[in-house]
Amino acid sequence: MSKIFITGGAGYIGTTLVPKLLDLGHEVTVFDMLLHGGNQIIPFFRHKNFNFIRGDIREFEKLQEAVTGQDIVIHLAAIVGFPRVQDESRNGPGGKCRRNH
Ligand SMILES: NC(=O)c1ccc[n+]([C@@H]2O[C@H](COP(=O)([O-])OP(=O)(O)OC[C@H]3O[C@@H](n4cnc5c(N)ncnc54)[C@H](O)[C@@H]3O)[C@@H](O)[C@H]2O)c1
Repeated sequence: MSKIFITGGAGYIGTTLVPKLLDLGHEVTVFDMLLHGGNQIIPFFRHKNFNFIRGDIREFEKLQEAVTGQDIVIHLAAIVGFPRVQDESRNGPGGKCRRNH
């Protein structure tokens, strides 16, 4: 059993991957700012090996604290697709030209 830390784990890829890793017996921690809401991860909370931290990967100290002691990191946090990237860079957290990762 490994301790697996997934940034952006509440997104499309993450919500497909997380239950597979839980089924394999791993402990999974998702670190995500829930840009698209968190409904998809609600069923995972029933699993004793699932942990969730709401956070922004740009909050370095919070991220560093959360990742300490983990065995594997899977980095999925991203602004995906040109329209969203354009919108986030104009209106998103941090405003114009703030990089997401
Ligand atoms: N979806 C695909 O078919 C596909 C294919 C190949 C590669 N990828 C790559 O996989 C990764 C994930 O893609 P996806 O489709 O799951 O995207 P997604 O938009 O569904 O999920 C991304 C997640 O990252 C989170 N996030 C974004 N910025 C964050 C930040 N600063 N801090 C914390 N969380 C943050 C969002 O809240 C969201 O839950 C991306 O790098 C994407 O390019 C996706």
